[in-house]
Amino acid sequence: MIDCHTHILPNLDDGSESLEMSVKALQQMSIGGVKAVICSSHYMVGTYKFSKDVYDARFKELEAEIRHHQIPITIYPGAEIYLTPNIADDIIKYRLTLADSNYILIETDLNGFPVDMHKNIFYLLRAGFRPILAHAERYVSVMKKTHEAKELINRNVYIQISAPSLIGGYGEKIKQTAWRLLNMGWAHFLGSDYHARSDYGAFFVAKDKIQEHIDNETMMLLTDTHPQAIIRNSKIDYEYVYVHSTSSHRTKLHI
Ligand SMILES: [Fe+2]
Repeated sequence: MIDCHTHILPNLDDGSESLEMSVKALQQMSIGGVKAVICSSHYMVGTYKFSKDVYDARFKELEAEIRHHQIPITIYPGAEIYLTPNIADDIIKYRLTLADSNYILIETDLNGFPVDMHKNIFYLLRAGFRPILAHAERYVSVMKKTHEAKELINRNVYIQISAPSLIGGYGEKIKQTAWRLLNMGWAHFLGSDYHARSDYGAFFVAKDKIQEHIDNETMMLLTDTHPQAIIRNSKIDYEYVYVHSTSSHRTKLHI
């Protein structure tokens, strides 16, 4: 499995607070079967202030620790980019893509999509990037109207859902939204959005639940096949799957 959304690099954002914390988390990830992790630290102008050099130094430090502790996990650079106008310039300048691919992980205000969101995304698409919306189920707009996610997919945006959401870590409404996205076939990636301050178990519980309540193929697509496409910088289908189970089964889901 590959975790495409983590805040595992220490002392950069609101994620891991020490190298020890990161190593402990990576050991737990490895035991559960995670083979690769993208270090998607926040890129939020005015909130998190670290230079590209500092990011690169932290990345190298963690790589050295991984080697030292012989953890069989490969880490890749990345960022979770808070969407603002002209952000494409920063993405190019600071190489803020995921695993040096064309994929980028974007987020906006959770309380409502900004009015210029589609315009800003259009500029990113035109610049050749493949945007992935982080934790789509946590946006009020998507909670109110799941079809907002489909609207984004129609505009060539991929959808990432977060493991804690699927098991109620952010409340019932977000949980239901995440499952609706999955059941509609409108989620492409499962990420942990792990901040290294608690147990990593949510990722494994969530992937087991996808396997149990939907199917193995969907679980593999979200945790392996699609994240691999990021690392290989290859294209993936936007509408990947309509759940194989029957519609009657879908209505009976008790998560
Ligand atoms: Fe995040």
